[in-house]
Amino acid sequence: MNKNYKRTLVTTALPYANGPVHIGHLAGVYVPADEYVRFLRLRGEDVVMIGGSDEHGVPITIKAREEGVTPQDIVDRYHKIIKDSMEELGISFDVYSRTTSDIHRETASEFFRRLYDKGVFELHTSEQLYDEQAGEFLADRYVMGTCPRCGSDRAYGDQCEACGSTLNATDLINPHSRLTSAPVSLRSTSHWYLPLNRYEEALREWILEGHKEWRPNVYGQCKSWLDLGLQPRAVSRDLNWGVPVPVEGADGKVLYVWFDAPIGYISNTKEILPDTWEKYWKDPETRVINFIGKDNIVFHCIVFPAMLMAYGDGYQLPDNVPANEFLNLEGDKISTSRNWAVWLHEYLRDFPGKQDVLRYVLTANAPETRDNDFTWAEFQARNNNELVAILGNFVNRAMVLTGKYFEGVVPEAGELQDIDSQLIADVEKVRKELTDNLSEFHFREGVKSAMELARLGNKYLQETEPWKVAKTDMGRVATVLNTALQLCANLAVAFEPFLPFSSAKLRGMLGMEQISWDMLGRFDLIPAGRRLGEPELLFEKISDEAIAAQLERLERIKQENKIKNFKAAPQAPDVDFDTFMKADLRVGTVLECERVPKADKLLRFLIDDGMERRTIVSGIAKHYDPKELVGKQVCFIANLPPRKLKGIESQGMILSAENADGSLALITPMAPVVPGAQIK
Ligand code: 2FM
Ligand code: ZN
Repeated sequence: MNKNYKRTLVTTALPYANGPVHIGHLAGVYVPADEYVRFLRLRGEDVVMIGGSDEHGVPITIKAREEGVTPQDIVDRYHKIIKDSMEELGISFDVYSRTTSDIHRETASEFFRRLYDKGVFELHTSEQLYDEQAGEFLADRYVMGTCPRCGSDRAYGDQCEACGSTLNATDLINPHSRLTSAPVSLRSTSHWYLPLNRYEEALREWILEGHKEWRPNVYGQCKSWLDLGLQPRAVSRDLNWGVPVPVEGADGKVLYVWFDAPIGYISNTKEILPDTWEKYWKDPETRVINFIGKDNIVFHCIVFPAMLMAYGDGYQLPDNVPANEFLNLEGDKISTSRNWAVWLHEYLRDFPGKQDVLRYVLTANAPETRDNDFTWAEFQARNNNELVAILGNFVNRAMVLTGKYFEGVVPEAGELQDIDSQLIADVEKVRKELTDNLSEFHFREGVKSAMELARLGNKYLQETEPWKVAKTDMGRVATVLNTALQLCANLAVAFEPFLPFSSAKLRGMLGMEQISWDMLGRFDLIPAGRRLGEPELLFEKISDEAIAAQLERLERIKQENKIKNFKAAPQAPDVDFDTFMKADLRVGTVLECERVPKADKLLRFLIDDGMERRTIVSGIAKHYDPKELVGKQVCFIANLPPRKLKGIESQGMILSAENADGSLALITPMAPVVPGAQIK
């Protein structure tokens, strides 16, 4: 850890502009990064927070093809959604730019060219998959085929989503192009490779010896990579979307997206600080911190540092890379392609004004040390039981009591009693913990410490009981409420990194204009005699209905995915014609239909079958309201031996089709027919 730093450059992984951002991105990267930056700003440190969209790469070209638009259309659309929604959530980037900017193209191009001129790269020729029909090389994601592990016929060239295996496109059985569906062939092509092996020793020394303080997940992943031995990696691709390789004869080749994206951090710093950007990248007194998710560790700890070492010129390597693990949603991996996510822009639409609730929940349950699960039930519980019942409640009590006993004017404190001094000492202890937690990237513990301050406040009011003391000793009430209001001011500071909107609201009520981290722990923050603003509720309860609506949405998506991924069952063995003809299939009209008592799946039908009437019991109660079926026509097998179900004799079987999501649909003729009509 660079203790003698003068400034901090905080970078946040550039999200791919092929979709909006979701809670996984937020919990993994943007919320903790923003909390850290806000904390440093409150300490008066020199810090810049760099963000932007990653606008190159194959997924963007795939999406563009799917929609029949250009890759530029796609990135324009999502860059705007991402930028606007993050701003609305209060993620306080100093710059949020994009890798299709001119400054980025120039910077990335120059970076490659310098390495090329220094003779860093190796040129290698290899066989790559090629789509003859489209006349294009195919990235692994563009190839589809049968998974050699599980047999799913929808495996991608880099991964099978059915069984989760990582694959090489050449492993697939019957590989074909996703562009044209044509079978693919192999063709040789040349690319520039960054010889990571040459930097292995330096990386080993720098990480394994020099950064033992990194999070165990980050350090451990780096160690495994280094222990396996590093290989040269291609840094160019055959693709028509990206930064062109700035070398003669490299037509049709672009920089690999993972080569250009991290350079985006540099380009975006240049954009915001055209005159001083170099200080933030090349001065040893700068500390660079990369906030990322765990899937980005190798690129930030191995590949990009090797690129910076190769470039030289004083570029600083990251001082820390506090990567998070993954956030799951309701027990399932978040997935853009399966739409299994809570999208930020939709959250902001569904829960207007509740930015801080999401920030709080994602921090209190941050996947810092292991994968974690986001559930709507927990979201509601943390809001109702913590934000409303602890933080909001304490602030509200302090404000309302001051209104009641002192007409909203901060009363003068008298002599402190032990209980007051104890509170001040407790706050001091929590202040230290909170500061340490934030300094060490322990945001989850940090927000717990901040909440502890509000808990102390509630306990203090509970024990001092100013509403009782008011009957006998208003001087004492003044001291208690002054102390409680000073604690509210502490909360406005402590929660600013986590809940900036609520902190601003609270500051407004308390009349605090400027705040800084060194105010924390002080009990003279609001002068006696100040008139407070109107008490406003900081948080409100989230209803069961609001949560149910979110759960219904997820259930709908689950069903849609089942339908999308439906695979018809293999055909049954042949049955000879005469045997089939023995089945007497008919149409009947429903005369009565009702639920079978104590059997939640069964309906009892009385059917007009053209001969007489028959009773049939059918396991379809979950899918139909019996009243709606009376008068409808159904198909049934007439000549099955009768059997008893829940004590009722069923004389046949009603036909229905099972959908991918398990729902059942009754089979019915397209036009009304006479009851008893035979099905042929
Ligand atoms: O994993 C991702 O979403 C990448 N777009 C992250 C890039 S981080 C950086 F290098 F720009
Ligand atoms: Zn598989």
